[in-house]
Amino acid sequence: MGGGCDFSNKVVLITGGSKGIGAGCAKVFVEAGASVLICDVDSENGEKVASSLDAKGPGHCQFEKCDVGIPSEVNNAIDAAVESCGRLDCLINNAAIFPRFRPIDECSVEEFEVTLRVNLIGYFVACKFALPYLRRFQGSVINMGSLTSVLGHHFATIYCATKGGISAFSKALAIEEAKNGVRVNAVLPGNILTQSRVNLEASMKDGRAFHDYVEKWQWIGRSGTVEEVGQACLFLASDQARFITGIELILSGAAELGYGPKVPVPEF
Ligand SMILES: NC(=O)c1ccc[n+]([C@@H]2O[C@H](COP(=O)([O-])OP(=O)(O)OC[C@H]3O[C@@H](n4cnc5c(N)ncnc54)[C@H](O)[C@@H]3O)[C@@H](O)[C@H]2O)c1
Repeated sequence: MGGGCDFSNKVVLITGGSKGIGAGCAKVFVEAGASVLICDVDSENGEKVASSLDAKGPGHCQFEKCDVGIPSEVNNAIDAAVESCGRLDCLINNAAIFPRFRPIDECSVEEFEVTLRVNLIGYFVACKFALPYLRRFQGSVINMGSLTSVLGHHFATIYCATKGGISAFSKALAIEEAKNGVRVNAVLPGNILTQSRVNLEASMKDGRAFHDYVEKWQWIGRSGTVEEVGQACLFLASDQARFITGIELILSGAAELGYGPKVPVPEF
């Protein structure tokens, strides 16, 4: 039950919660008793995840179609959450798009603008519209960043730039909102095993070998689970973390420690 963090009667809005890490966060918060609103462009998965979590309880879950790249839709989703649940205690900004890995010469300015609009401006917009409610209920913001904001990543200039922006934005907002009683933290996942990665592995000639290889990037010897990211968010959102604001919580199984690959690079 959520690592001892009771979220009964609390309301949490999660962007990009139709699958992957966002869906893992929704599961953990519903299990801790929260009422969760998933906001995502993917209605099919979002409706499925929300109804299955709602049926299991003990908390509640509902889905609202929302493109975080469109400010009016974000505003409406936040107002809808407060209208139907009466309050807002936590905003988890998580929705993101992932440009294909390639060198900067092959990346267009338009692609950077589109990615920025979802991955970074979308976070800013959701904070802007959620903060009046979060201040009222002394809530918190959790921004899903990435370990790549610290380490960079080969052929991922656009994605890394948006993730670096999230880290800096979170710290600046934490300073600004401290006096209002709203805490703002960033979570930086390393390798997390999501359905998207499972699908990627399934599409490879030797997906099993790729899987085993990626598992060895972590000193802990495996990737994280989406529920483990949810547990970290639940802790940060809870009263147990009431003195924690402005941090970047790295969730990586120590992938970044000790420089370089821990095994020779094989062919796949
Ligand atoms: N999986 C990892 O290993 C990993 C590592 C580091 C950081 N992250 C971060 O975690 C977050 C979730 O990643 P994931 O791996 O679960 O991705 P995912 O692709 O599995 O899920 C992302 C969700 O965001 C939604 N989304 C995309 N564009 C949207 C938009 N405009 N409006 C609303 N929803 C939109 C998608 O429909 C999807 O449901 C992202 O911020 C990502 O950068 C993931």
